[in-house]
Amino acid sequence: MLSIFSYNATEYNSKEHSVTEQVPAKVDMEKLVSLCQRRGFIFPSSEIYGGLSSCWDYGPLGVELKRNIKQAWWRAVVQERDDMVGLDASILMHPQTWEASGHLKGFTDPLVECKSCHLRWRADELAGNSCPSCGGELTEPRLFNLMFKTFMGPIEEEASVVYLRPETAQGMFVNFHNVLNTTRKRLPFGIAQIGKAFRNEITTGNFIFRSREFEQMEIEFFVKPGTDKEWFNYWLEERFNWYVKLGIKKENLKLRQHMKRELAHYAKACYDIDYLFPMGWAELEGIANRGDFDLVQHAKYSGKSLTYLDEENKEHIIPYIIEPSAGVDRSALAFLCDAYDEELAEGELRVILHLHPSLAPIKVAVLPLSRREKLVAVAKQIYADLRQCWMVSYDDAQSIGRRYRRQDEIGTPFCVTIDFQSLEDEQVTIRERDTMNQIRLPIAELKRTLQAKLTGEPLFVLPPGGKIWKGGENA
Ligand code: GAP
Repeated sequence: MLSIFSYNATEYNSKEHSVTEQVPAKVDMEKLVSLCQRRGFIFPSSEIYGGLSSCWDYGPLGVELKRNIKQAWWRAVVQERDDMVGLDASILMHPQTWEASGHLKGFTDPLVECKSCHLRWRADELAGNSCPSCGGELTEPRLFNLMFKTFMGPIEEEASVVYLRPETAQGMFVNFHNVLNTTRKRLPFGIAQIGKAFRNEITTGNFIFRSREFEQMEIEFFVKPGTDKEWFNYWLEERFNWYVKLGIKKENLKLRQHMKRELAHYAKACYDIDYLFPMGWAELEGIANRGDFDLVQHAKYSGKSLTYLDEENKEHIIPYIIEPSAGVDRSALAFLCDAYDEELAEGELRVILHLHPSLAPIKVAVLPLSRREKLVAVAKQIYADLRQCWMVSYDDAQSIGRRYRRQDEIGTPFCVTIDFQSLEDEQVTIRERDTMNQIRLPIAELKRTLQAKLTGEPLFVLPPGGKIWKGGENA
């Protein structure tokens, strides 16, 4: 099954995993950071106090982008599937969770980190003093627990220690029986969750790529042992295609198989979906076959059985788990990098974000050609009407050309221009971001046409009474 995926993975396998691998930069990270700050996508956290290392705030456009990414993911993995349900577990969990999961033990060893590829190694298990993966320089060993510790209740003592979760996954494992009993799902089925995770990373950087507070979109897919390889391949393909469907260029994505020594303690097999970020190929999402590790561990530590009754064979089994685990912030970075484009239009630099319409923060901009009262009344009415359906922006400042550029730069797929002719013929112009083509159509047809265009129907299926326009000429 799905031999193409095995093929790509093997091919890429021969390369070492490193975000610093030398590749021609396609998008300049500095430019992207500057655009994000200038236009209100992403700001440094607590900026007025000088910022907080590797924490970021999503501004008015960033929050929309992130919401759209999460919505697209939820739609694909929960809403449109029969075999998946959602969950929203709390960030603080019983501390024994982290004993069972291996996070407490695994993260309190002396660790060194490669300054180049950021892989971490147990200092006491290293033969030499350079990175076994890429030969890079290593940091000094530190007793390091990646989890943020805090205290539950008013007394700061050992007994009240709790941790901010470093992954959302454990909330789904410990709720396995709750979900099973309340939804009557049968294997194979999955639980999906989106939520914040916290890691006290030793090294951070590359903008929102690696931060200490981030968001994950994780699936724990429970399957019968013996069918796990097939489901693993299925999810590799499914998740890879999700990024492609949302506009990421195929050539900027690769599957990379984890080498044995890279595998996390719980994983039988793992592939990363890597993206060609400006700093090089790096992990966008990890897909792991976790076997029965998690359910066995939580059953052992909680004393509760976490088995599943296989009615076919009349036996209790422990399901295997396939886990596609994606980062919201890393996805946002990849979508922004892939969408970024510059071109010369009429002697001026045009910066465009070719974001997929479903991800674009603002779907439509309403632009009255002048601030004359009669025109404004029509424009405001259209604005109010379209806002019932989408995030819409209203802009009446400066020349129409400048306003188009402003919308291109934030990825708005469509601009609606209201001119003096609109007062006579009750028609307006829609201008498309990527082609700059324009159509003129009756206001009464506007919402329906935008709806069709935003969901991907061809641009020039004209409604009754519509005309095609290009560069000011009737086509
Ligand atoms: N439950 C498995 C798990 O958490 P992971 O590979 O450590 O696996 C999954 O994390 C995804 O979460 C990564 O592929 C990445 O997208 C995101 N992620 C992990 N650490 C991150 C960090 N410090 N900053 C931003 N995103 C991070």
